Amino acid sequence: MNIEQLVRPNIRALKPYSSARSEFKGEAEVFLDANENPFDTGYNRYPDPLQWALKDRIAELKGVRPEHIFLGNGSDEAIDLLLRIFCEPQEDFIITLPPTYGMYKVSADIADVEIKEVPLRPNFQPDVDAILTTGASPHAKLLFLCNPNNPTGNSLNTDKVEQLLDQFNGVVVIDEAYIDFSAKKSFIHRIEEFDNLVILQTFSKAWGLAGIRLGMAFAQKPIIALFNKVKPPYNINQLTQQAALEALKNQEQQQAWVNRILGQRTVIQQFLAGLDYVERIFPSDANFILVKVKDPNDLYRYLVDKKIIVRNRSSVLLCDGCLRISIGTPKENEKLFAAMLDYDV
Ligand SMILES: Cc1ncc(COP(=O)(O)O)c(C=O)c1O
Repeated sequence: MNIEQLVRPNIRALKPYSSARSEFKGEAEVFLDANENPFDTGYNRYPDPLQWALKDRIAELKGVRPEHIFLGNGSDEAIDLLLRIFCEPQEDFIITLPPTYGMYKVSADIADVEIKEVPLRPNFQPDVDAILTTGASPHAKLLFLCNPNNPTGNSLNTDKVEQLLDQFNGVVVIDEAYIDFSAKKSFIHRIEEFDNLVILQTFSKAWGLAGIRLGMAFAQKPIIALFNKVKPPYNINQLTQQAALEALKNQEQQQAWVNRILGQRTVIQQFLAGLDYVERIFPSDANFILVKVKDPNDLYRYLVDKKIIVRNRSSVLLCDGCLRISIGTPKENEKLFAAMLDYDV
């Protein structure tokens, strides 16, 4: 696919900002090029604009090349940049499959880019034919697939994703924010195969680092080059780079958290199955469970009164009657159980 052809003309023509730290590379003793404060605070210097030390470690962990990585201020920054790279306001459009993560629509709305929604089927799987029909336009620039999907928790069928990758004539973004909780395979190792594929992952979930705001995008070099062209020069601050490098030293800890969360997911599923006001527990490949109950608004308010906050998704398409419950610590989950046992329908 000709990726350049999909890019907005103004971005193709853009001469990006050249920062002091990217203009000079190499060893030096005296840096008088960036108008920094020269007195050492530990933070007086601008950070590496391309975060190579961190990318090297992530590349090792994920089994990809560092040149195939873009790091953003959360995956939300990558979503925003994709819209600004590829979508001409009021001309191009993106495709999303609701119910899904809300930021795709918000970012499109901010960018004044039309969004065409092709709802998931009632089994929460993509309607491939409808997506391809909608996507049969030179203005269809981005297709967002959330896998596992938020808020439904399920994984998308691999054959369907492959069909979309083969046949959609724009960029396919697979948001794998929850992939570490899934037994299904990531598509990250397919980026060499598809030049129109972008994989999003994040440090916000399994790594326990939502507070440092660090998201990852994996793609072939031309798309990574576009991200780097439009991103703010120092988009990942030094504290974030350091915290992530520190966390990456202890992958066992991440795995241990994931295992505990998966164990608790089963405990919660078993608990919910015993409640007569629970109508349906949807299978989950993520760190949350979508559950259909008799009166979601009433249960939601009841839990808030008990100082327990879950997400009310009952007004969302295909999620009638549903609450989304994140997996907590065993202690937190016990509190949830006690409250839910006390609940009178
Ligand atoms: C599917 C999905 N993608 C991305 C994000 C946001 O990730 P980040 O914290 O990296 O911006 C979320 C957060 O809930 C999410 O559910």
